[in-house]
Amino acid sequence: MINKNLTVVDNPLVLRDLTILRDKNTGVREFRDALRRVSYSLAIEVSKLFPTRSVKVETPLTETEGIEFQKDVILVPVLRAGLSMVNSFLELLPEAKVGHIGLQRNEETLQPVEYYYKTPKTLSSSKVIVLDPMLATGGSASAAFTFLKNKGASDITLACLIAAPEGVRKIESEHADIKVISASLDEKLNEHGYIVPGLGDAGDRTFGTL
Ligand code: PRP
Ligand code: URA
Repeated sequence: MINKNLTVVDNPLVLRDLTILRDKNTGVREFRDALRRVSYSLAIEVSKLFPTRSVKVETPLTETEGIEFQKDVILVPVLRAGLSMVNSFLELLPEAKVGHIGLQRNEETLQPVEYYYKTPKTLSSSKVIVLDPMLATGGSASAAFTFLKNKGASDITLACLIAAPEGVRKIESEHADIKVISASLDEKLNEHGYIVPGLGDAGDRTFGTL
């Protein structure tokens, strides 16, 4: 096990869609569709971490036990690529609030450059789910977590599509409290900081800016 805080979701639907996402011949529309579908599986896996409490519910026949979530949920997509995961999460968590963090990785230094932050005021009492398809060096995710913690967040999970071992290790050493839910743990980063085998640039492939 590379990291006790990493969970890799692998069901046949995810593996089939990962194959579509990795394929260099997949077009923008199919890419978006596959990422939307994988995001449902990620949302379901993340929901297993939600604290719940039992509640009574009256069916038409009798009273029985159900559950409700203890905390509100805040989704925080990392712009741009994280936007492609938001709608799937919102379909399953329709009450969630949404914050945004704008980070652009400098492709020379591989350091994240911040350009936008807007988050709900209830971070400290909420379950915060950061959405970003790619965890490469981990610089962007780590910067997002530091910002959210400085704003009061204390219960953060990252949902991503592909993680590199380097990024997982960075999160473990800098943010050991944060769980990472990923659809894949890939082999490595190449000399340009791209995940191998990966899928290329997630933002460019989602928005057609290649
Ligand atoms: C990509 C990706 C992550 C980041 C991962 O975004 O969506 O945010 O790179 O790399 P890291 O782990 O090495 O920081 P990018 O900066 O390319 O911006 P984009 O989403 O606007 O394309
Ligand atoms: N960002 C991406 O979009 N893809 C990678 O492989 C690494 C960082």
